[in-house]
Amino acid sequence: MSGRCGGVLPFFLGFLLACIVGWAVFPPLLYTDVEQPVRFSHKVHVEGQEMECDSCHFFRDDGSYAGFPTNEQCAECHAVDEPEAVVEAVRGVVGEDGKLEDILKLPVDEMPEELTELVQSGDEADVKAELDYLVKYAIQGKEVPWLNYQAQPDNVLFSHKAHEGLTFEMLKEKHVDLSGIVDDAVMEQGGDYNCNLCHLKDIEKTDTPPAFQRNVLTTYSKITMKMWQCERCHAQMGQVNACYVCHK
Ligand code: HEC
Ligand code: HEC
Ligand code: HEC
Ligand code: HEC
Ligand code: HEC
Repeated sequence: MSGRCGGVLPFFLGFLLACIVGWAVFPPLLYTDVEQPVRFSHKVHVEGQEMECDSCHFFRDDGSYAGFPTNEQCAECHAVDEPEAVVEAVRGVVGEDGKLEDILKLPVDEMPEELTELVQSGDEADVKAELDYLVKYAIQGKEVPWLNYQAQPDNVLFSHKAHEGLTFEMLKEKHVDLSGIVDDAVMEQGGDYNCNLCHLKDIEKTDTPPAFQRNVLTTYSKITMKMWQCERCHAQMGQVNACYVCHK
């Protein structure tokens, strides 16, 4: 009798353990959180500076999408007129052998004036982020390698131009099912920006961009749209789903 119990119980415990590992432990292990290279605040720029989305995310004259802004757009307000002089001043503090980034470890009042006079933020966290941007990128003339939460494989063709006219209202009217991409509540509420149909919701209101959840096997982010999700909307909107539409 006791032998029987001894046989079932370990099996049951093992089964339970496998379930716990499978449901709770493995999925988090599949993703690592990666931060954006600079803590860029949409709130500061969109609300505070009253900037329009398309001053940073715009279509080029040929219709292609510029995507992320470059230093050129930032320089309208974060111009570094004499980058060599700033780099030299920073070198004066960190030494010829030191790295420019080492300056960021010092308190602000120990940084050279050539650098601190460029800072426009007041709030402490914003000052830190702005200095990060200036030292690592702007004064060195390097572009920020922003992480794209929706990045697709190279063989996928996606065109922002083709989706420019999509609106929440239009999709609601056609009862397009976007579950898994857009929550019912967001869908109901609608919105001014059709970006929210496909991208991280309300990112334009955030101070700190959410972590990029990188799939350790594929390196794509967790929220990257899947093929069936593109195809579901296309089918419901009466679009052709031939392979060549989305693949090169
Ligand atoms: C001053 C420039 C600037 C303005 C203005 C701006 N953005 Fe951005 N946006 C960025 C930068 C930089 C990133 C990359 C860092 C990040 O994800 O926060 C970004 C990222 C995004 C993304 C995420 C793309 C992805 O990787 O999936 C969306 C969506 C977005 N912006 C929407 C908006 C909307 C909507 C507005 C207007 C309400 C707006 N942005 C205004 C600079 C800007
Ligand atoms: C229209 C002017 C303007 C443009 C264009 C602009 N900024 Fe700013 N930015 C500001 C001002 C002003 C502040 C300080 C705001 C405050 O403290 O109220 C600021 C603050 C910041 C900060 C600190 C706050 C935060 O966002 O975390 C960072 C970092 C920053 N900017 C990066 C950028 C980058 C990168 C670009 C280009 C993609 C850019 N800015 C474009 C005006 C601008
Ligand atoms: C129909 C879905 C959809 C809509 C609507 C949409 N995007 Fe995207 N976006 C994507 C996809 C998919 C990618 C990835 C493209 C790739 O990697 O080839 C992307 C990429 C981006 C990128 C990264 C740089 C790039 O061009 O690859 C930015 C920035 C961006 N979108 C901003 C926006 C903004 C701002 C809006 C609203 C004005 C918007 N998107 C509307 C699906 C969409
Ligand atoms: C919310 C609905 C929706 C989603 C999601 C969506 N699309 Fe579309 N897509 C459309 C519609 C509607 C059109 C046709 C627009 C037009 O012709 O005015 C279109 C057109 C296109 C076109 C242009 C086709 C042509 O003949 O010019 C391409 C390419 C495309 N989509 C790729 C994608 C990819 C790749 C994804 C997923 C990453 C995607 N779409 C996600 C609705 C969607
Ligand atoms: C509406 C756009 C769209 C259409 C139409 C489409 N694809 Fe895709 N496909 C994608 C996107 C986006 C991805 C990348 C995301 C993913 O893997 O789900 C992809 C990925 C793939 C992959 C890699 C799959 C993987 O999981 O690694 C293959 C293979 C593929 N597609 C084949 C096809 C074939 C064959 C057709 C025609 C029968 C087709 N696709 C039609 C959008 C599309």
